[in-house]
Amino acid sequence: MNNQNSKQQIGLFGFGVVGESLHHVITNSHASNAEVVKICIRDPHKKRSLPAEMFCTDRDEIIQDNEINLVVELIDDAEQALEIVKSAMLAGKSVVSGNKKMLATHMEELMDLQQLSGSALLYDASACGSIPVIRNLEEYYDNDLLLSITGILNGSSNYILSRMYSKNIDFAQALNQACEMGFAEADPSLDVEGHDALYKIIILTMHGFGTRVNQDEIFCSGISHIGPADIRFARERGYRIKLVAQAQKVHNNSVALFVMPKLVTREEYIYNVEDEYNGVVIEGEFYEKQFMFGKGAGGFPTGSSVLSDITARTHNYRYEYKKRKYFTPPAHTNDILLEVYYRYRFTEDLLLLDFEEITEHHSTRDYFYVIGQIRLGKLLQVKDKFDAMKVFLAFIRILKD
Ligand SMILES: NC(=O)c1ccc[n+]([C@@H]2O[C@H](COP(=O)([O-])OP(=O)(O)OC[C@H]3O[C@@H](n4cnc5c(N)ncnc54)[C@H](OP(=O)(O)O)[C@@H]3O)[C@@H](O)[C@H]2O)c1
Repeated sequence: MNNQNSKQQIGLFGFGVVGESLHHVITNSHASNAEVVKICIRDPHKKRSLPAEMFCTDRDEIIQDNEINLVVELIDDAEQALEIVKSAMLAGKSVVSGNKKMLATHMEELMDLQQLSGSALLYDASACGSIPVIRNLEEYYDNDLLLSITGILNGSSNYILSRMYSKNIDFAQALNQACEMGFAEADPSLDVEGHDALYKIIILTMHGFGTRVNQDEIFCSGISHIGPADIRFARERGYRIKLVAQAQKVHNNSVALFVMPKLVTREEYIYNVEDEYNGVVIEGEFYEKQFMFGKGAGGFPTGSSVLSDITARTHNYRYEYKKRKYFTPPAHTNDILLEVYYRYRFTEDLLLLDFEEITEHHSTRDYFYVIGQIRLGKLLQVKDKFDAMKVFLAFIRILKD
């Protein structure tokens, strides 16, 4: 059992961008009462910045070590991470993780395991790096007043969009710059196709509303097909384009989720969230809107967030999943009406989307665009075909039915 007097003896999995930074953060935080005693990595031949005896490749050297009371999992493989987290918890060790894909995909199993084993699992670093969104949703917003969570949750796609807008460069150039700056995931399609933001909004929705939604029930579109015409359109109308993930409470106590580029007006808090930064707007009854802003990725910001979870364990903190425990979570729905901008090339592209109403239509020699109204559920129905088309869709606002 952890308490304020017991030292956190940490077994660390992964010594990449975040793992190595975490070690640095712990070493420089003298009051943290935590020590990394063993590090499990994949490649024993890689040059490391710490003595060789600190490292191992056999996960049981950590899991079976009774001196180690906390496992920190920071590897880049979601399925392996799940095995590590499960075996650590079953061995009676609490775990801190940053693996959003694992958490979004296996949330139920991991919640059940916390109950069964009595071990805690904390993961504030999994959504928005250094911004403490999950613990705030869990503790401060622990009532049913929450109306929406809207955020720029992926730093590299925001960096790409900011560069395209301010420097007039194309998508490929901006993506290269994001990779060079170390902002993009090893597989950048996770960032630019919106999957990374999707995992995060699934986790935030669980803590904000108590509603568990599977990935394949959520419409998610990214920015890889954005072109100069879209940037020009946004500039002319006074918008910026941001990749936004949103969970919105709607009629009949339901919640709708999506990830999509958004045409953002100057009045919105996220308008000025630029480059690799993240921003999250929390909206509720009676308190209107609040805004959290900061570094959503990078070794040191993420390492700091992991340290905060490690420290929280010295006080025996664990998530209670209060919105599930004490409230009836809203049902998930895709029955909302969106106003969108849609740029396309062929008539079939327009017909596929089944607009309820088109309010503006523009043609050029090379492309067309419309502004119109469409149901989120219709978008989800055609998602597979949509993903294969070279078109660009951005939402403007949610319309009241
Ligand atoms: N980077 C960020 O800004 C950021 C922000 C928030 C959350 N996260 C999450 O944090 C986690 C780590 O990200 P990262 O950027 O630090 O990744 P990374 O730089 O690619 O490092 C991954 C580390 O995992 C190790 N590893 C992979 N498979 C392993 C296994 N089966 N057993 C033991 N070690 C294994 C690798 O070992 P080798 O060194 O031997 O290759 C490497 O040290 C991911 O879940 C990521 O989504 C990252």
